[in-house]
Amino acid sequence: MFGSSTSSIPEVRPVPRHIAIIMDGNGRWAKKRFLPRVAGHKKGLSTVREVVAGCQELGVEYLTLFAFSTENWRRPPDEVSFLMDLFLNALENEVEKLHSNDIRLKVIGDRSRFAPRIVERIDAAEARTAANGGLVLTIAADYGGRWDMLQAVNQMIGEGATAITEEALAGRLSMAYAPEPDLFIRTGGEQRISNFLLWQLAYSELYFTDLLWPDFDKRALGDAVQSYRCRERRFGRTSEQLPASLRRD
Ligand code: FPP
Repeated sequence: MFGSSTSSIPEVRPVPRHIAIIMDGNGRWAKKRFLPRVAGHKKGLSTVREVVAGCQELGVEYLTLFAFSTENWRRPPDEVSFLMDLFLNALENEVEKLHSNDIRLKVIGDRSRFAPRIVERIDAAEARTAANGGLVLTIAADYGGRWDMLQAVNQMIGEGATAITEEALAGRLSMAYAPEPDLFIRTGGEQRISNFLLWQLAYSELYFTDLLWPDFDKRALGDAVQSYRCRERRFGRTSEQLPASLRRD
């Protein structure tokens, strides 16, 4: 289990250990080209491949992608079912490639609203890649930060807890297997967290870009990491308290 940024100060490395991304802008990318929104999601999937490769090259250990939020069910039914099919096909078609690249796939979120065949595919893909030691790729699907905190609290209530500590709650979140994100990226120009990893983003560095997700590439990833390198991560301390290597003045 990893420490919590509010109870102990994490190690700061030049390359983020964990990057979490909200992949926004697929619909606008398609609209600009007079294509249906779903064409943007399709192109978005090729950006996922490129960014996964980019993270491996940089030495990032954990990459977490927000593919579908608890609120995305509010989209038109056609688009929801396209996204589900894209996810199902990706699970079917990409898993062997992930496996041969030593990537461990994890899927977080509320599985209860997914079709049984998607749940089976998720389980199979996780099991196939479970022993891999390279990049941990997490797909957040039917995920919401509030859902996650509530399921953790409800687990604890079920276990008879009468008080809740930070460590106990963090240990029951669906990403308890990963350190908190060092870097959060959102494409598409909006500057909000949209109910993503609410607990874990407490001390993450936030990076927003106007690039639409289908236009994001390895170079754009490099720019985000470069911006991260220039940040002074103080975790509540003063600049003077930091070791010289972490000061950015
Ligand atoms: C947001 O863009 C994107 C999504 C809700 C879906 C993300 C899905 C992918 C990138 C493709 C598949 C990924 C996997 C892992 C299978 P938007 O539709 O909100 O764009 P807009 O803001 O321009 O309308």
